[in-house]
Amino acid sequence: MEKLLIAGGARLSGRLRVAGAKNSSLAIIAAAALAPDRSTLENVPRCQDVLTFLEILRSIGVTAEFTGPGRLELDARTITDHVAPYELCRQMRASIYIAGTLLGRLGRAEVPLPGGCVIGSRPVDFHIRGFETLGAQVVTQHGFLKAHAARLSAATFYVPRSSMGTTINLMLAASRIAGATILQNAAREPEIVDTAVLLSLMGAHVRGAGTSTITIEGSRDLKGATYTIIPDRIEAGTYLIAAAATHGDVLIEDMISEHITALLTKLSEAGATVAADPTGIRVQADTDLRPIDVDTAPYPGFATDLHPQLAAMLAVATGRSAIRETIFESRFGYADELRRMGADIRVEGDTATITGVPHLSGAPLQAMDIRAGAALVIAGLEARGETQITNLENIDRGYEGLEQKLRTLGANVQRVPA
Ligand code: EPU
Repeated sequence: MEKLLIAGGARLSGRLRVAGAKNSSLAIIAAAALAPDRSTLENVPRCQDVLTFLEILRSIGVTAEFTGPGRLELDARTITDHVAPYELCRQMRASIYIAGTLLGRLGRAEVPLPGGCVIGSRPVDFHIRGFETLGAQVVTQHGFLKAHAARLSAATFYVPRSSMGTTINLMLAASRIAGATILQNAAREPEIVDTAVLLSLMGAHVRGAGTSTITIEGSRDLKGATYTIIPDRIEAGTYLIAAAATHGDVLIEDMISEHITALLTKLSEAGATVAADPTGIRVQADTDLRPIDVDTAPYPGFATDLHPQLAAMLAVATGRSAIRETIFESRFGYADELRRMGADIRVEGDTATITGVPHLSGAPLQAMDIRAGAALVIAGLEARGETQITNLENIDRGYEGLEQKLRTLGANVQRVPA
């Protein structure tokens, strides 16, 4: 058990390179395992969710080793089991991707209903309906999703609402089906485009990723590939919000700025200076920030995964802000913790109303989920006095080397035994 100690008050400044995208990596590792072959993936973050996902793959027979910084070698020539272990799958949402991989690869899958961040009900009904549309028989029994298909067939599926996980899972299964599967109302996240590019390199033909209609012409003969994962837009966004919140000046190198346009627009509306060019994104804030109103939305809208961090920033803006959460009903796990620091946050229905206070005061806090944990870190950086954060396993699920990166930017952060 460890905790973070943050001495608040430092202005973050400097340059940083973020890791590869966690949510791309999870989808891409699942995709690479569709081919009975070796693959090399570059820019894979060593955050806990990725490590847990690799354990799940090892349990079904895949070999997976990091052979250099960010370089992951996968060997999926043999898959020995179609049942994924409960103890590992319950820890993370993306474990459900194993169903798409196993169904595509072996025609059968038994995968525990997934766990992950406690931010809402997070059912898998769309995934199930999608697999059924591709010809699988699916039941949920004893806490497992059990699917089998003598033969999957290409089909058209309308994703009931924009769902990243459903879109990925169906792209995975469809990549092994000869014929054109069409996903309508597909999610448009950059991580979906990243996965589609890899699947195409492997021998599937995926068109339209990044739009709401994706066509997948699969192949029974997928090959391994070498691929570099995109930078993590949520990690980048977290440090840029922290820069604005601490009146700092931070440049994120090699970041694809169009992946976080919605955030950059809002930071600028709040009074930060934002500069984005192909070398990176720089955010500076010299004066107090103004209040803003934000609605979360599927990409390219404002990411729900940046909502808690933005709330921590707005807790010390000069007026009343509102954040309306439209994706996950229980995304407000940060609010009680920020209130312990003196923040004025009222949550009613889907909206948090945040009235800025002159300063937060350091306090002992618990990280409730990945992004709520990141919000507490930002609050600790802007607060007066010392903040102690426990339940770090939640932060470590999504952030690689958080405190080292913050120290590079001048933060006073240490990880110590709890
Ligand atoms: N939904 C259903 N039924 C389904 C699937 C989704 O009702 O079968 C609903 C969800 O409850 C939610 C909405 O559809 O209200 C969208 O959910 P989506 O499927 O897009 O979310 P996800 O795939 O479970 C991924 C990320 C999350 C991120 C969301 C939204 C991964 C592993 N997780 O989750 O990331 O918040 O998309 O962008 O890619 C995080 O990284 O901290 C994180 C929580």
